[in-house]
Amino acid sequence: MERVASEAQVRVFIRDESDVAVARRRARELASQQGLSEVEAEALATAVTEIARNIVVHAGGGEILFERVVDAPRRGVVVIARDTGPGIPDVEQAMQDGFSTKRGLGFGLPGARRLVDKFEIESKAGAGTTVTLRKWAAAKSQ
Ligand SMILES: Nc1ncnc2c1ncn2[C@@H]1O[C@H](COP(=O)(O)OP(=O)(O)OP(=O)(O)O)[C@@H](O)[C@H]1O
Ligand SMILES: [Mg+2]
Repeated sequence: MERVASEAQVRVFIRDESDVAVARRRARELASQQGLSEVEAEALATAVTEIARNIVVHAGGGEILFERVVDAPRRGVVVIARDTGPGIPDVEQAMQDGFSTKRGLGFGLPGARRLVDKFEIESKAGAGTTVTLRKWAAAKSQ
């Protein structure tokens, strides 16, 4: 059974680009504490950066929770990013390479998905967006 060490939960409020940098740093720190390799930690940090930046650009603000996760002997990191912004009316479309409503490259969400072991997105137009990422040490899947 998976177990989350609650004392390890960290919350970062996301409003602007400096908060994105804080979230990136937290992701890296927790990843290395959990035994992720440099490459794995960098992958998670990059995914977190994209999701955090989306909160700034598309939702105007939100928060990101970081948790350690243990499924012995595996260790990993779970990241829950949530906002109460405008939401995404068509999540499937938003997950496609190159789709952007703001003249972005449209690679943030699909890129983030490829960098982690588990990626979930829940969004409702008018109600906000929650993205959950999980990455294990040793790059095992889900
Ligand atoms: N938190 C969010 N709230 C509302 N809409 C979002 C959110 N995150 C993503 N979106 C929507 O999904 C689309 C795709 O996101 P994605 O990150 O892939 O691309 P982008 O942010 O437009 O460009 P890029 O990330 O490449 O700079 C966005 O253009 C936006 O319409
Ligand atoms: Mg983006």
